[in-house]
Amino acid sequence: MTDIKELLLSRIRDVADHPEPGVMFKDITPLLADPAAFTALTDALAELTVRHGATKIVGLEARGFILGAPAAVRAGVGFIPVRKAGKLPGATLSQAYDLEYGSAEIEVHAEDLIEGDRVMVIDDVLATGGTAEASLQLIRRAGAEVAGVAVLMELSFLAGRQRLEAVLDGAPLESL
Ligand code: PRP
Repeated sequence: MTDIKELLLSRIRDVADHPEPGVMFKDITPLLADPAAFTALTDALAELTVRHGATKIVGLEARGFILGAPAAVRAGVGFIPVRKAGKLPGATLSQAYDLEYGSAEIEVHAEDLIEGDRVMVIDDVLATGGTAEASLQLIRRAGAEVAGVAVLMELSFLAGRQRLEAVLDGAPLESL
């Protein structure tokens, strides 16, 4: 294992039975509280953003904001929040997607993404891939291009990678 992987893994806390019995929650707050680990993560996400030629970062609410915003500053690109429905005040594009039980909806300010943008999507966790897939649809509907998706970790038993690779059109899925 590389040094950075070891460092990041050592700062992710497993919390059993949260938010409900049987779920092992991956808590990233110890990582955020450690300046060396948070800096290493920010640098790695910024490096991926630059390497894949992205001109903007989309962060997915809420932890994607915490990771994506400093990476955007470090990479010298703009940051765009993709929020849960009903939070953004301006004209939005909305995308609904299915959850195990029910559905959810995410939104972006329509004017923030434009044709010619190359967008890196950043989030903490890739689980089923539903949220990330919906964000790709938003980006493309806005006329922008997907440069890739970068996450801190993926829960491989939920097969989000397979779901996402089917819709990435060859763009990379990077998991640190
Ligand atoms: C979590 C996580 C991802 C998403 C991954 O967010 O931060 O955004 O779920 O799940 P998926 O791959 O199955 O779509 P959550 O909805 O818990 O929101 P929060 O960050 O606001 O707590």
